[in-house]
Amino acid sequence: MVKFICKKPGKKSIAILKKDEKVVSPSYAREYSFVFKKGKGNYVYDVDNRKYLDFAAGIAVNSVGHANPEVIKAVKKQLPSGLHAAFGDFYAELPVVFIEHLLKIVPRNFQKAFLSNSGTESIEAAYKLARWHTKKKYVIAFNNCFHGRTMGSLSMTNSKPVQRERFSPFLPVKHVPYPYVYRMPFKNENDCTNFCLDKIEKAIKSVKGDVAAIFMEPIQGEGGYIVPPKDFPKEVRKICNKRNILFCDDEVQAGCYRTGKFLAIENFNTLPDIVSLSKAIGGGIPLGATLASSKIMNWTPGSHSNTFGGNLVACAAGIATLDYMKKHNLGKNATKVGKYILKRLNEIKEEYELVGDVRGLGLMIGIELVKNKKNKIPAVKERSSILCKSQEKGLILLPAGISTIRICPPLTITLKEAEQGLNILEDSLKEVS
Ligand SMILES: Cc1ncc(COP(=O)(O)O)c(C=O)c1O
Repeated sequence: MVKFICKKPGKKSIAILKKDEKVVSPSYAREYSFVFKKGKGNYVYDVDNRKYLDFAAGIAVNSVGHANPEVIKAVKKQLPSGLHAAFGDFYAELPVVFIEHLLKIVPRNFQKAFLSNSGTESIEAAYKLARWHTKKKYVIAFNNCFHGRTMGSLSMTNSKPVQRERFSPFLPVKHVPYPYVYRMPFKNENDCTNFCLDKIEKAIKSVKGDVAAIFMEPIQGEGGYIVPPKDFPKEVRKICNKRNILFCDDEVQAGCYRTGKFLAIENFNTLPDIVSLSKAIGGGIPLGATLASSKIMNWTPGSHSNTFGGNLVACAAGIATLDYMKKHNLGKNATKVGKYILKRLNEIKEEYELVGDVRGLGLMIGIELVKNKKNKIPAVKERSSILCKSQEKGLILLPAGISTIRICPPLTITLKEAEQGLNILEDSLKEVS
């Protein structure tokens, strides 16, 4: 029997939930019973025709808004000429044009790209490239990280125990603490940074330097929207330089202007060796890209490939998405609206005992809920209630980490819409408090 965590949804939703339960793998973890019918701009509608403001963007995918007309136009234009060119075996112009577009936006360090269909694949490519290029065995990843669910990326992922249970043995990974300032017992950010850097050095030593890469999310996503101290990525870069290790930057969730800059790592004044992108880059069509310099991406033909990478429809959508993001200055909008949301949330934090921490960059914002500000015990049930109440009031939100609410709307969101969403969120907070 379908269990409703929140208020019972409408009739049409219930009918689909029942069919879903019969045939769909139960491994998906759905937070509540929103049944998507259509999306338009910054709004989504359920099958019972209820309208919702979208503060989730399909987990940071619909950054250019739902059913973006320019992306649709590009896809439609491509459809009659073919969908699949077998880019792993033959040549085609569109994937090349897409990569050229992308390389014009990212810093100059990157000259080559490998194309795929998802975040986990763009991480697998980075992982394999790092091992191929360095001929070394281990990688370092952070506690709470999320890099995907195929075995290479899952070997690193550990934001929740359920993601790893029964899947070992894993590939050789050393996990080290991520500077989660709010939850670590340090007086200041510097001490937190130094503690984490020391753990990295110790991990490298423990395997006698046999480390191909350090994988890092510039802002942790699934782990709880955790922003590291400003200097931390730069210090990781220094360790990589000193120890001849590649710095692999997972921009799957944080990339594509979500934090204001195209790459989130650019906010921290440093650059990685390999970048993994996906989610928003296809405007809603599955697309992944792994970038590196020509010097690093020098693997031999046959060492890595796939069937669907460079898919023509995905590349057409990708080009239109990047063009739209640039033309409409979505990075600037993310910074502007993000600042407003953070300011308002910090005011809310002062008023509610439940709100332990507010953090974020651009439109990647987390609100960590706690039983009370002193004991910092995660307010897990309260978070579920707030998500449900917000949905009832017409706002789509998603969780992250143990008791954090994530705010990641389309980058096209206006100040007025942000205000409307925050009003709903505050009403729900008030009721649950
Ligand atoms: C930072 C990060 N990396 C990798 C992934 C995996 O992406 P996908 O689910 O497309 O495989 C995700 C997905 O949420 C992510 O947030």
